Amino acid sequence: MKIAIKATRETDCTCDVLILPFIEEGTNPYRRLKPSLSRLVAKVWNHEFSGKKQEVLLVPAPEDIRPRRILFLGLGKKEALSPEQVRQAGGKALAYLRDLGMRKPAFSTILVTALKQSPADFVEGALLGLYQYEKYRSEKSGKKIAAFTIIARPSRKLTQDIRRVETLAAAVAFARDLVNAPANEMTPTGLARAATSLKRKTLSVKVLGNKEMEKLGMGAYLAISYGSAEPPKFIVLEYRGSRKPPVVLIGKSITFDSGGLSLKPSDNMEKMKYDMAGGAAVLGVMKAAAEMKLPVHLVGLLPATENLPGGCATRPGDVVRSLSGKTVEIVNTDAEGRLALADALAYAKRFNPAAIIDIATLTGACAITFGGEAMAMMGNDRSLLDAFRTAGEKTYERVWEMPLLEEYKEYLKSDIADMRNVGTRIGSLMASAYFLYEFAGQTPWVHLDIAGTAWVEKDRPYLPKGASGIGVRLIYAILDPL
Ligand code: BES
Ligand code: MN
Ligand code: ZN
Repeated sequence: MKIAIKATRETDCTCDVLILPFIEEGTNPYRRLKPSLSRLVAKVWNHEFSGKKQEVLLVPAPEDIRPRRILFLGLGKKEALSPEQVRQAGGKALAYLRDLGMRKPAFSTILVTALKQSPADFVEGALLGLYQYEKYRSEKSGKKIAAFTIIARPSRKLTQDIRRVETLAAAVAFARDLVNAPANEMTPTGLARAATSLKRKTLSVKVLGNKEMEKLGMGAYLAISYGSAEPPKFIVLEYRGSRKPPVVLIGKSITFDSGGLSLKPSDNMEKMKYDMAGGAAVLGVMKAAAEMKLPVHLVGLLPATENLPGGCATRPGDVVRSLSGKTVEIVNTDAEGRLALADALAYAKRFNPAAIIDIATLTGACAITFGGEAMAMMGNDRSLLDAFRTAGEKTYERVWEMPLLEEYKEYLKSDIADMRNVGTRIGSLMASAYFLYEFAGQTPWVHLDIAGTAWVEKDRPYLPKGASGIGVRLIYAILDPL
């Protein structure tokens, strides 16, 4: 889809539908446009259409203006207006028009600008909301928005902001595609291929295979892979936009989580293809950072493997030695994510990182606690945690901090090894993070549990059902704060 900023008058715009946003009540924001249009607005607004958020009404345009249709679009109450409301309106409007077969909408920025909101947020919502995953459908919908016009005076700021949201939306779509792909396509090898596709001058990609990992001693992560015929792949990306010590991003990349011998129930097991959503988010961030040429040094680590109960599978009770040297009793093979992350955290230390961020669909408890509304966050560095809090509010990829109390250490005591990989069900959201903390040590570190937010059960304004791509916009906002 092509996006253009044009300084035309609304009534002269070449488009098949003109989008006019409204708040509830107030004065007609379009009274300075042609009388015929202003009259139409007066007739419709506060009659058939009131401007409630997410309200849409498509009507034929007056004869004497260029656009053939007008979309009345509600933004809700003026007091409640926020970047997120604008984003949601963009998501709703464009998906709605697309589904009706429109191809060339134009958006009037008169109102959002007057209300000190950014048109770029509208574009961001639109792009995120237009996402579709049709790869395996023989009959594609065929409905596509071909061109989208933003009616505004072009400025450097607006052009840059739109370029940023376009890059981010593409990175989110990239992540969503990886997560929506079935696990027979998105194997560890498939994920490594996707990562390799991001290679460019400033972004290197290296993939470690079984032999190298055994030699390094990644016993915790490798233990997950024994039950699967698919070879594990440890994917290492590096983007050098600065010479400073890097921020290391670690993404859980279990391409399918059956639970292993601690087998999951079959209900909903098909969803466990999304257990690599953390890894997908990391790839999305690396892609966006490289495309935007951010002045940051980033390392991405994706310990990819399947978790299956094959003949060589790890048994409950097995003890492994992790890369850090700590031994772990694997009491439950379904608590596999933390094993992979433990070795990735230890590997991260080689880069002498300024900070480590891990993102993972780690616990069912996280989904039960927050539903799809927020991700759980834990960490050891107040200023980094606060930065995430702020970025979460800005991007609406909201985070909520849970406590990392030292007493949780007790939950993970093993009778025969340094630690066990699970406690009991009690406090499991925090205990899982505490397990990671043992490997993160003193490096500033934040852990994000996206088990509840990585998959969308029901369409939302700019989050179509399926993979959300969550984490990309959030982590990007930390690296490139506005
Ligand atoms: N990948 C799952 C967590 C998960 C559950 C993500 C539901 C998304 C939706 C993880 O590997 C897992 O199985 N965790 C277990 C840990 C338990 C055995 C301590 C859980 O949370 O049930
Ligand atoms: Mn599991
Ligand atoms: Zn898992």
